[in-house]
Amino acid sequence: PQRVFSGIQPTGNLHLGNYLGALKKFVDLQNDGWDCVYSVVDMHAITMPVEKGVLADQTRQIAAAFIACGIDPKTSIVYAQSSVPAHAELAWVFNCVARMGWVERMTQFKDKAGKDAERASVGLFTYPVLQAADILAYKATHVPVGEDQKQHLELSRDIADRFNREYDVPGFFPLPEPLIKGPGARIMSLKDGTKKMSKSDPSDLSRINLVDDADLIAKKIKKAKTDLEGDMPSEVEGLKGRPEVENLVGIYSAVSGLTTEQVLAEYGGKGFGVFKPALAEVMVDHLAPITQRYRDILADQSGIDAILKDGAERADAIAAPIMEEVRRAVGYWRP
Ligand code: AMP
Ligand code: TRP
Repeated sequence: PQRVFSGIQPTGNLHLGNYLGALKKFVDLQNDGWDCVYSVVDMHAITMPVEKGVLADQTRQIAAAFIACGIDPKTSIVYAQSSVPAHAELAWVFNCVARMGWVERMTQFKDKAGKDAERASVGLFTYPVLQAADILAYKATHVPVGEDQKQHLELSRDIADRFNREYDVPGFFPLPEPLIKGPGARIMSLKDGTKKMSKSDPSDLSRINLVDDADLIAKKIKKAKTDLEGDMPSEVEGLKGRPEVENLVGIYSAVSGLTTEQVLAEYGGKGFGVFKPALAEVMVDHLAPITQRYRDILADQSGIDAILKDGAERADAIAAPIMEEVRRAVGYWRP
């Protein structure tokens, strides 16, 4: 059996990179008939400092965004990670399966810990081990994520494989496959085509947030960095060495569903004065209904809470029996 699992942290505003790299794919997989489990990973969020008192509301916001983007909480499972105990329990077992050397190689830890890694939480270090537990607590086979999660997915596969060997349970855990392809897997900053779009960028002009209104989107696209080469290229090769232009074309393609070739066939040879307003328009057309639904859903807090509660029960019903098999494989005492 095949199953999709993915998660998003309840930290800060969602942006276009999260949407195109992750959320939109979550919806497409659901609509293609996959069995999908989507988690708001609040346990991951506390690996870094969180402002007091906001975590629960941020969790509701991500759940609302899932649904606004088109995830149907009856078809797919939507829940908060901390409400299903298997995540923490399996993460401990995996902490004892993963090797220090494997985890020390993770570049996201180095980026997030910064210069003073001694002061980072131990949780931040072992973050990718918890991520492996998230996926494998459901024996998920496919994981839609942005490009930046590739290394974490490789670690998940290594952990699954080592568990299966160490405890002599061949094939017990599937080796989960990342689903990273397609336009949108790596959306770059609007101010620097070599940096990914990120919620931690101090400049709000560097990203499109899912809650930005039409005017703000148009303004940010207008101010987006391009280059001095002038017009839009007509061929894909013409995007080489022009990362900002490549990014804008990639966004157009991801949002509209057109291929890069089709976008360039339409705009090749034209100036940014033509392309940018057209890009802003397709973005607003695509995002405005999502933003509206998001606000409506968020206004009904008890509705979101009911969805998260139902999701937690359904998630636990899958994970609890798998966790029991894990306890037996590990050889813990059982009554
Ligand atoms: P996070 O908010 O860090 O939990 O990320 C949620 C999801 O968004 C993950 O699957 C990331 O890979 C994806 N993501 C984050 N930033 C980008 C980006 N700039 N381009 C594409 N995907 C992204
Ligand atoms: N680490 C992921 C991110 O920052 C979020 C995440 C946590 C996740 N657990 C996961 C993604 C399991 C996929 C599968 O984006």
